[in-house]
Amino acid sequence: MEEKVVILAIESSCDETSAAVVVNGREVLSNVISSQIKIHKQFGGVVPEIASRKHIENIDRVVKDALLEAGVGFKDLDAVAVTYGPGLVGALLVGVSYAKSLAFGLGLPLIPVHHIEGHIAANYIQYPDLEPPFICLVVSGGHTNLVKINSYNDFDILGHTRDDAAGEAYDKVARSLNLPYPGGPKIDKISKEGDPNSVKFPRVMLEEGSYDFSFSGLKSSVLNHLNRCRLKGIEYKEADIAASFQQAVIDVLTEKAMRACSEYGINKLAACGGVSANSALRASLRAACEKKGIEFYVPELVLCTDNGAMIGSAAYYEYKAGCRTDMSLNAVPGLKLGERGY
Ligand code: KG4
Ligand code: ZN
Repeated sequence: MEEKVVILAIESSCDETSAAVVVNGREVLSNVISSQIKIHKQFGGVVPEIASRKHIENIDRVVKDALLEAGVGFKDLDAVAVTYGPGLVGALLVGVSYAKSLAFGLGLPLIPVHHIEGHIAANYIQYPDLEPPFICLVVSGGHTNLVKINSYNDFDILGHTRDDAAGEAYDKVARSLNLPYPGGPKIDKISKEGDPNSVKFPRVMLEEGSYDFSFSGLKSSVLNHLNRCRLKGIEYKEADIAASFQQAVIDVLTEKAMRACSEYGINKLAACGGVSANSALRASLRAACEKKGIEFYVPELVLCTDNGAMIGSAAYYEYKAGCRTDMSLNAVPGLKLGERGY
């Protein structure tokens, strides 16, 4: 029988304090998420200092709730895992310090997890039968990557964003449309009432064959269009602008993801990260995959945005590969995908 590995995972890289208990990387016994969105909303974005303080206030209760909900005690745990980067340094440090003291006190192994590898692993939770290889489109607030997942612990980065991440572009465009933080879900919602072809915003593909992304030109183009309309008194519908912007992002993401599948001969495409919660993006990727006979994977909404369960899943594969760290673990705010910062 397969060994049972029970991991307590902690995530505090941005504005969600989360803890989860995950068995063998796939079975989620609990996934408690305490969101700070309401607090940061009044400032139009995440205020790092406030985020750190709220994590400090919340983390103990969130961890205890996660254990309680899972029906698991400290003695049942095999390891403690924590996100150590990338993210806001003060926010990360709360989770890292808490996880270090817990692992030390309980005499358990401490597993450091890369936040983006966590996002990718959310798909393992959603699809218990999903195994590498597959292509993964990572679209979060701070990252946009196309990644070829070769095995649980080995991947190649095919492309990354050269400027703004897709989520960042969503949030900035939303702000210019006076939509409250976080803008992504609001753009998703109002776009449903808009015409995606009303304004032809640029689809930046970069050099031929490139899997990199660039969204800052698109963002500027939307802002310029809005300014022009406002200055000249031209009427516009917010929903049309939102839908047209969104369609430009989706066209680029879909085309590059599909090209990666075909170039590498891989018939599985997964998406992950906050922007993969976007209904139009999910529909576009699903339709493109169906057309090409490619299997499409995307986590349920709660597993797309930041959560502890995805960290617990990624941690299991790190644990199996023998990755451990000690009390010298530090937060690495600028940790790159593929980098080991410990
Ligand atoms: O992955 P995530 O929760 O945090 C980071 O690791 O960055 O992603 C947050 C991002 C934000 O930019 C948010 O606006 C975006 O994901 N987002 C969405 C949607 N839900 C969240 N963007 C578009 N449509 C959505 N439904
Ligand atoms: Zn994230």
